[in-house]
Amino acid sequence: MRKIAFLRSVDIQRADPYVQRAVRELAADGIEAGLFHTSGTAGDSDFPGHRERLDEGVTPREIADAVAAWGADRAVSISLPCENALRDAAAKAFLDAVGIPTVMTPLAATMLLVDKWETKQLCRRAGLDVPDGFRVDSDLLAGRGLPVPGYRDALRVQAERVGYPLMSKPVWDSTSMGIRTLRSPADLDAHLAPRPETVSTVVEQVVEGDLCSVDIVGRPGAYRVLPLCWTGRACAEPVFTFADLRWCGPREEADAAFADVARALTGLCGSLGVRGSVNVDMIYTGGRFVVLEINPRIGGATTLSCAASGSNTFSSLVRMARGLPLGGGMARRTCWAVEFLAGDGIRPATLAELRRRVRVVTAHELVIDAVSHGDIVVFTLARGEEERTVRALAELHEASGFPTAEVLARISALLDPER
Ligand SMILES: Nc1ncnc2c1ncn2[C@@H]1O[C@H](COP(=O)(O)OP(=O)(O)O)[C@@H](O)[C@H]1O
Ligand SMILES: [Mg+2]
Repeated sequence: MRKIAFLRSVDIQRADPYVQRAVRELAADGIEAGLFHTSGTAGDSDFPGHRERLDEGVTPREIADAVAAWGADRAVSISLPCENALRDAAAKAFLDAVGIPTVMTPLAATMLLVDKWETKQLCRRAGLDVPDGFRVDSDLLAGRGLPVPGYRDALRVQAERVGYPLMSKPVWDSTSMGIRTLRSPADLDAHLAPRPETVSTVVEQVVEGDLCSVDIVGRPGAYRVLPLCWTGRACAEPVFTFADLRWCGPREEADAAFADVARALTGLCGSLGVRGSVNVDMIYTGGRFVVLEINPRIGGATTLSCAASGSNTFSSLVRMARGLPLGGGMARRTCWAVEFLAGDGIRPATLAELRRRVRVVTAHELVIDAVSHGDIVVFTLARGEEERTVRALAELHEASGFPTAEVLARISALLDPER
């Protein structure tokens, strides 16, 4: 084997520094890596291999053709969010057919997992907890196709059964886009009003608790479960995915309760034939995990879980591509990893100071749908270093105003609650 292609839809920087490590490991074994990406720019330091920027509107067939023309022996999808996972799953079908096996969940399973309603049914059948809810079909609301005069009233009855407040979520979409809280029957009526831009939604009960996310990578029979990442608070107000501190670290009760959930999730992945990575969003409440969605792709917290476990998801995907054995089971957490959004760009001198004080895994601009959200930083620390780390960050804040008082207070509350 000489060449492995990576299919990517968003800036490669978000996979930093793990994708670069995986590429260097390949180079050390004499295998060339190629990046086929449809967004952002990538230089030598971002992807130390062959690089091809494809048009954003590229079709799955065109992706497959570009990868084949380069002479790839294997391919790996590392695209997100879900619409691009679907694109790559279709490209995989073409690539597999021409003898370029591609690490990606097959299209039929991907199509189920990109759909929040279908995913809810799969989870329920696998014995996982999900928020009670119902599906709202935009065609029926708009009167397209068969007229169903009782449809709105049927949904109102469903809403009363589940109980307010409710949350409506586009069946497709990601990063909390289009999510609305429905606090009353009047809100539901507004949600059901005919509008040309109406999309099908899942309407479900609001669950209050701690948001968390887990990445699972592998193939049937060998799934590696990365450590849980905590990503904020879930309540009746939908919040921007990156608004809060995100972290991976010890949380004994939850870690113990998660073991059964992990088994159910890997069982479900196996029965669906998942290949590659899935990213599961959950809410931890009253000692149980309620599953919100299973994204058939790399997740938004992948860097965190790699940093906290020393298990590189991109290397695991490459091992799969090469047909090398993959260690299954729970990846052990070896340290804390903490991620925060820094607002405006961090000055280089401040970043250098930060690097002097803590182990920075990555600091890069967070771009979602071509919109910048400022710089995002991930750092790690060993257990036992909590107090020292908070002190070091407090000194930096005193000297430079970075990180902000708010971020510092959150880090301090997490790492050194006695302070
Ligand atoms: N049932 C729910 N109860 C409370 N909060 C929810 C619920 N469903 C979604 N949310 C909030 O919306 C965010 C996004 O929901 P999710 O189902 O993960 O969709 P996506 O990430 O695709 O936008 C969650 O992180 C959480 O903050
Ligand atoms: Mg989500």
